[in-house]
Amino acid sequence: MEMNKQLYQNAIAQTDTYKRFGKIHRVVGLMIESKGPEVSIGDVCLIHTPSQNGKTIKAEVVGFNNENVILMPFKEVREISPGSLVEATGTSLKVKVGMGLIGKVLDAMGSPLDNQPLPKGLKSYPTDQQPPNPMSRPTIKEPLQVGVKAIDSLLTMGKGQRVGIFAGSGVGKSTLMGMIARNSSASINVIALIGERGREVREFIENDLGEEGLRKSVVIVATSDQPALMRIKGAYTATAISEYFRDMGFQVNLMMDSVTRVAMAQREIGLAVGEPPTTKGYTPSVFAILPKLLERTGTSKFGTVTAFYTVLVDGDDMNEPIADTVRGILDGHFVLDRKLAEQNQFPAINVLRSISRVMNQVVDSRHREAADNVRSLLATYEENRELIQIGAYKKGTDSNIDASIRANPAIVQFLKQGMYEQSTYEESIKRLAGLNNGSDR
Ligand SMILES: Nc1ncnc2c1ncn2[C@@H]1O[C@H](COP(=O)(O)OP(=O)(O)O)[C@@H](O)[C@H]1O
Ligand SMILES: [Mg+2]
Repeated sequence: MEMNKQLYQNAIAQTDTYKRFGKIHRVVGLMIESKGPEVSIGDVCLIHTPSQNGKTIKAEVVGFNNENVILMPFKEVREISPGSLVEATGTSLKVKVGMGLIGKVLDAMGSPLDNQPLPKGLKSYPTDQQPPNPMSRPTIKEPLQVGVKAIDSLLTMGKGQRVGIFAGSGVGKSTLMGMIARNSSASINVIALIGERGREVREFIENDLGEEGLRKSVVIVATSDQPALMRIKGAYTATAISEYFRDMGFQVNLMMDSVTRVAMAQREIGLAVGEPPTTKGYTPSVFAILPKLLERTGTSKFGTVTAFYTVLVDGDDMNEPIADTVRGILDGHFVLDRKLAEQNQFPAINVLRSISRVMNQVVDSRHREAADNVRSLLATYEENRELIQIGAYKKGTDSNIDASIRANPAIVQFLKQGMYEQSTYEESIKRLAGLNNGSDR
């Protein structure tokens, strides 16, 4: 008797009293409300469908309503009904990481899109991570070869820098990202395509990136037709994969196209859980997640993630709230200018409106002086462009303007770069030095 009592007491002590199951009682649009289970924000739950085969649907806890849990599914759902069971998994979303991912195209949850199984030996890694401690982050000291002349010479980037690429549609974002992926000196590219149409994704992978680029890349795709949560997760998954490689000591490029679409997906979720739209329809959580996400890249004790985030700007509105927020977080911005694209000047980087905030930290004084010089020649030409082009400027009136006119054709020629034209960092700097006297050699 005494013996049995002890057994029962042990059993009770070891029982998991944590409430693992809850029940759905309301579904509105993308939002699923359940009574229980006991969970926290960001936890993954499995919703058991009424179908016979015991199928489950993954969903994430995105909020609470009084005592109820608000969930959002990772996939579109049809098969749930009132009373469906919600099972807590007790963890947040994890993806598989490892060298075996290189060359693969994955969905937002890290599953391969070609339905081939992933290689063995990968490990699980949570997609949501804290940014490295700012005090333990090394400063950016070394230049990174991007392989695009305009950037390497006048907007030099450092390993671990984070920049925004601001552009409207059709001005050459995808082409530029493909060039960087193929030509940069980083060892691995992690490329997140968020909110694009399916056709654009294929075009990017087949034409812009190409086989050569894919060989040293991992591509994460969440197209525009996917639920908002998947589009957000695409950004987190890509960031996590780049962190994993960084912490193995690699120099990684993370390219996210576009961070605007990530913000829009977060807005969708925010509105669904009842946040108020504040700045131009964006909800407060959008401005809370952006710095957290964008601070995760950069340098760490082990390696670097150099990050490129594209930002969609309509017209030339650089003060649109997402553009403004992102520009404030990052260490530089490159503006792709529709006017240049229309003049067939590709890549259409408007050098005068762009800046790399770490350039002066990573280049030597000769490079800096040559770049400053070329910038002021370009600026003088721009200020007087109209006068010069209608022939109202008389040669000899101003020696600075004369010099800018002499140098302009060579500078414009130098800044142009064909999609498959390669240029090393050293070559670009050498040519930059020659530009000041109007030659391009
Ligand atoms: N470096 C380049 N050289 C020549 N043409 C380019 C270059 N970059 C872009 N283009 C032209 O611009 C078009 C749009 O570029 P794309 O990269 O698809 O723009 P986005 O991704 O911004 O919509 C391309 O189809 C191509 O014709
Ligand atoms: Mg594109």
